[in-house]
Amino acid sequence: MIKDRVSDLIGRTPLLRLAAADGAGTVLLKLEQYNPTGTAKIRMARTMVDEAEAQELLTPGGWLVEATSGNTGFGLALIAAERGYKFTAVVDNHSSVEKLRGMLAYGAELLNISGDREGLATAERYAGARRFAAEQGAYLTAQDRNPGNPNGYRPLALELHDDLGEDIDYLYGAVGTGGSLCGTGRVLRKRIPDLKIIGVEPVGSVNFGGDEAPYHQSGTGTPEIGEICDVLDYDVIDEGIKVSDSEAFETCRYLARNFGVLIGGSAGGVVYKALERAQCVGPETTIVVLVCDGGEKYLDTVFNDEWMVANGLFDARVVDRLASMLRPARSVTKR
Ligand SMILES: Cc1ncc(COP(=O)(O)O)c(C=O)c1O
Repeated sequence: MIKDRVSDLIGRTPLLRLAAADGAGTVLLKLEQYNPTGTAKIRMARTMVDEAEAQELLTPGGWLVEATSGNTGFGLALIAAERGYKFTAVVDNHSSVEKLRGMLAYGAELLNISGDREGLATAERYAGARRFAAEQGAYLTAQDRNPGNPNGYRPLALELHDDLGEDIDYLYGAVGTGGSLCGTGRVLRKRIPDLKIIGVEPVGSVNFGGDEAPYHQSGTGTPEIGEICDVLDYDVIDEGIKVSDSEAFETCRYLARNFGVLIGGSAGGVVYKALERAQCVGPETTIVVLVCDGGEKYLDTVFNDEWMVANGLFDARVVDRLASMLRPARSVTKR
């Protein structure tokens, strides 16, 4: 099918079955890196803009502003380029260079509010974006509280239902704003009432309680209690669990080397937890994992040995556990 706009290529991403150990549950990866910009977040970027246009909050030639660690900004930058809007991304020093370069490639303007400060500065980013948008009379998309964020994942839920029908027992996803998991889960549960929805965040993130601490999984989690996003709807999520950086990144590396699947750091964490669950259920149980993005944006970090050593992230016990939870690729028979 021939399309006329890049945004028409959003969605209908593939499902890949992971070769879980014999007797374990079936783990299916919804590979959202097959979207333009290589991430699920383009879905909500488009919906936030569509809804703002419909409400006449955004008019031709308008200006968009968002606080973003990268993937949302990447999506907004593409939509802005396609529709002729100006876009300013308010970022901090935590954002990956590849995501920032991607936004620049689409003609976005970057406003870094971190100064010399290293690491995540989510609260400052949101406050900076609010201030800047008000000063410039621009439209702040505000992914932390915009219903367009979760609404953007309605098509994702429908795709899963089209492909799998009622045959989904668990939905696993990373939780940052909560938009992707809550938006997908809310729609899917209307069709599958018994569906269990599991949110995964880094150890050190506070969406599901616990102590705050630094973590390296990018784009996911909430580093401080005061910043939990309004779109995170706890009523949709049955269970919130935590995954360490080592578990997340060793999973990314293991999948790349043994199966040729390149996924991003947050998705690695979600896959690890889904595989653990798969060991406790039977082969009739289907677990769907939302893979937020691909590994290409993390070649300098997760897939870089020196960076892994410098941050003390290698863990042979995790690799052993992965080997016990997955079958070697060569023994996988085509079904
Ligand atoms: C790589 C990555 N993983 C996970 C998430 C979390 O998604 P959500 O904000 O929908 O909870 C994001 C959000 O930007 C992300 O970029």
